[in-house]
Amino acid sequence: MRTILVTGGAGFIGSNFVQMVLQEHGDYRVVNLDKLTYAGNLENLEGFLDHPNHIFVKGDICNGELIGKLLKEHAIDAIVHFAAESHVDRSLEGPAVFIDTNVTGTLKLLEAARDYPLQKFVQVSTDEVYGSLGTEGKFTESSPIRPNSPYSASKAAADHLVRAFGHTWGLPYNITRCSNNYGPYQFPEKMLPLMINNALHDKELPVYGDGLYVRDWLYVYDHCTAVWKVLTEGRAGEIYNIGGCNEKTNLEVIGIILERLQKPKSLIRHVKDRPGHDRRYAIDATKIMTELGWKPSVTFSQGLAKTIEWYLTHAKWLERVVSGDYEKYYQEMYSGR
Ligand code: NAD
Ligand code: TYD
Repeated sequence: MRTILVTGGAGFIGSNFVQMVLQEHGDYRVVNLDKLTYAGNLENLEGFLDHPNHIFVKGDICNGELIGKLLKEHAIDAIVHFAAESHVDRSLEGPAVFIDTNVTGTLKLLEAARDYPLQKFVQVSTDEVYGSLGTEGKFTESSPIRPNSPYSASKAAADHLVRAFGHTWGLPYNITRCSNNYGPYQFPEKMLPLMINNALHDKELPVYGDGLYVRDWLYVYDHCTAVWKVLTEGRAGEIYNIGGCNEKTNLEVIGIILERLQKPKSLIRHVKDRPGHDRRYAIDATKIMTELGWKPSVTFSQGLAKTIEWYLTHAKWLERVVSGDYEKYYQEMYSGR
């Protein structure tokens, strides 16, 4: 039996990852450390909280003492680090917490890992550290790091720290850089579930600027299988880009959502653009595909159909998530925009 410390395992991607490990890798135990911020939700782990191979710990990755204790107490073999402040728009309103969690929190994990015989540290990062593309080309692992938002700058800083700990102290690490995820349990501040939720309630769909921004969408389960491949087979010290070869403009994605939900295009409303908005992301995932034999399991059309179906069948989850603080966030972010 091997034991991994997963940080941020009550968030969107982390909870999908924890569920995948518990369902598909019975010889692994998961210690799940999550602060349960607005984005963390124990409902995301429903049916798995009491799983015999799952230990949930409510706590902050900035607490170095706690991390050191968890590593020893549970004889952790590897860390898979998802915990982060993850929303670009929030990073424009208040960048400080992004530095606290994404930079200082990662540093605390690294310090604890350095002083302990860890077998692997996987830093789950993002393609956004590479900045924005024009109409041509894709990000490769050797593309320059040019983050444009406080969110991506904080992730890039964390990636640099991980690399530095590998270089200086021999920490066996991997960094993964994935494109935009979609799927079950995504908090509806992000574009895709926000549009699904609004369309379901016949509310306007706030499209930033001209809506022709391009993202490379990947179904969350496929991101999780890629992280698993990197954890178990990735060569230490390597970066792996992860993407689905599914470039779509925001208007294309929204068009498909409206069609599937049988809602009119008249719900679309173009609103003031996000400052510094990255025009296009696209991932070259050749390295992980050829070296580790990873490939996505679903097409965008299949993944989106599963996602919409999930939100339709989890109306109560959505209702609870958008009650309370979310309403306030939505007003602040969108009213009069
Ligand atoms: P999320 O916001 O849904 O979840 C983040 C989780 O981290 C939450 O459960 C939250 O409670 C927890 N957390 C936040 N601060 C913490 C702290 N100080 N200590 C402990 N836990 C804390 O994020 P997500 O979309 O699931 O993203 C997970 C990771 O994947 C992030 O590192 C993000 O940068 C990266 N990523 C996300 C995407 C995407 O499309 N969502 C794409 C590529 C990479
Ligand atoms: P988002 O889900 O915030 O991810 P990221 O900015 O990290 O790629 O946004 C995806 C795209 O959707 C991005 O181009 C911004 C756009 N967007 C809107 O047009 N309206 C919205 O209300 C949101 C949240 C995003």
